[in-house]
Amino acid sequence: MKVRFIQRDGTVSEVTAADGARLLDIAQADNQPLEGTCEGDMACATCHVIVAAEDFARLPPASEEEEDMLDLAYGATRTSRLSCQITLNEALGTLTVTIPGGSRNMQGR
Ligand code: FES
Repeated sequence: MKVRFIQRDGTVSEVTAADGARLLDIAQADNQPLEGTCEGDMACATCHVIVAAEDFARLPPASEEEEDMLDLAYGATRTSRLSCQITLNEALGTLTVTIPGGSRNMQGR
């Protein structure tokens, strides 16, 4: 399957992901600016991504814990998800997500 990352500045990057991979790991492998500080414990929300509306409905729904964490995420929208909670599979085809940015300043500027 494929994941298309869209960054704030409009940069698009498309990568191939293996069945069963975590979206967070795929994003980090592609150098997308997602910190994922808690490494999937649903305790940081720095792995927040905005899923394309047409893809959002095809993902398994978020757990209550994930929803609670998303409430705290910077710039969260109705189609926001925590990328550490998304397991990819072939059936998804191509998943398009936007990297919100701005939750932390990774460059220290
Ligand atoms: S990595 Fe911390 S909530 Fe996803």
